[in-house]
Amino acid sequence: MGVPLLDLRAQYERIRHEIEPVITEIVESQYFVMGPQVKECEAAVAKYSACAHGIGVSSGTDALLVSLMAEGIGPDDEVITTPYTFFATAGCIARVGARPVFVDIDPVTYNLDPELIESRITPRTKAIMPVHLYGQMADMDPVLKIAAKHGLVVIEDAAQAIGSEYKGRRAGSLGDYGCFSFFPSKNLGCFGDGGMVVTNDAARAERLMRLRNHGAKPKYHHGIIGGNFRLDTLQAAIVTTKLSHLDTWTAERQSNAVRYDRLFDRSGLLTNGVVSIPHVRESRHIFNQYVIRVSRRDELRDHLKSREIGSEVYYPVPMHLQECFANLAYGRGDFPEAERAAEETLALPIFPELSDRQAESVVEAIAEFYSGLT
Ligand SMILES: Cc1ncc(COP(=O)(O)O)c(C=O)c1O
Repeated sequence: MGVPLLDLRAQYERIRHEIEPVITEIVESQYFVMGPQVKECEAAVAKYSACAHGIGVSSGTDALLVSLMAEGIGPDDEVITTPYTFFATAGCIARVGARPVFVDIDPVTYNLDPELIESRITPRTKAIMPVHLYGQMADMDPVLKIAAKHGLVVIEDAAQAIGSEYKGRRAGSLGDYGCFSFFPSKNLGCFGDGGMVVTNDAARAERLMRLRNHGAKPKYHHGIIGGNFRLDTLQAAIVTTKLSHLDTWTAERQSNAVRYDRLFDRSGLLTNGVVSIPHVRESRHIFNQYVIRVSRRDELRDHLKSREIGSEVYYPVPMHLQECFANLAYGRGDFPEAERAAEETLALPIFPELSDRQAESVVEAIAEFYSGLT
């Protein structure tokens, strides 16, 4: 049985009756930019994330970028982050002219290892940008402690982690800024690009709101330079509508993960160490991805492809080895855990509607691959 990596049409069929009237209403109003639905969405996502303020923006990437801009981070500044992430994390740091300074990851959670942060702090360090990868939050207590000790800003890259929790605290609410992505494959995806910054700081919220609209306040008066980072009215309304389903979808993802764990356990692949399953360390893992660590990853991936089973390698090239960052003068071997994760991990289908039969097919195909090798 073929299984897609993600089946967004299955999700749409469940909510079509709610979404279509919302889209029609906006199309009829023709209020496409900064319509009242944007504020509604901001309030709803901020509340969901235990934050006082939400600022809708054009993507998760722009959420990170505008947060860095709001802190005035730029040339000669350094920002500490993980090399094992989607490009936007490090790309935004470089785009404001600052230097991304990497620290290696914890091989169990794939999140930045806080024990390695302090030795990388210099007088130029301005911020720490932890990423809550795959839907599980980074170990935030030590990150926050180090940030407070050295007077650093914390920008959470929570693009993959809306609704996840660390010791009962919601992603986005622990740092000075929390950045979400509404890219369609995220747990709360819109119908295009979208994102949001959440914060508990009123002054920062005010600055973010100005920056996302060319820095204007009042209109046509620009005390600071911003950009067009606005969230479309249509996307905002879609996010708000979908948000009421998010906890159900998250519970479905979590039970899909438990089912995979059980299937892998029964397959015998765990005992002989061929496959490692995700380790849930924090209080609420939202499973944006279910990522296994395996030997002969690329061959396994080809095998799954031949069985029409979707999988993905997130991320094959860590940031310190990206061509565009050659100027940072990192090399192979600098972050061994990130490099190992890039070579050994594979994401499997975990979308909420994944059926028992589909999950069984995925694990059967993996077991078939490894039994063929022995
Ligand atoms: C960790 C991480 N950061 C940032 C982003 C950027 O989000 P967007 O694609 O909405 O720009 C993503 C999304 O792909 C991501 O996974």
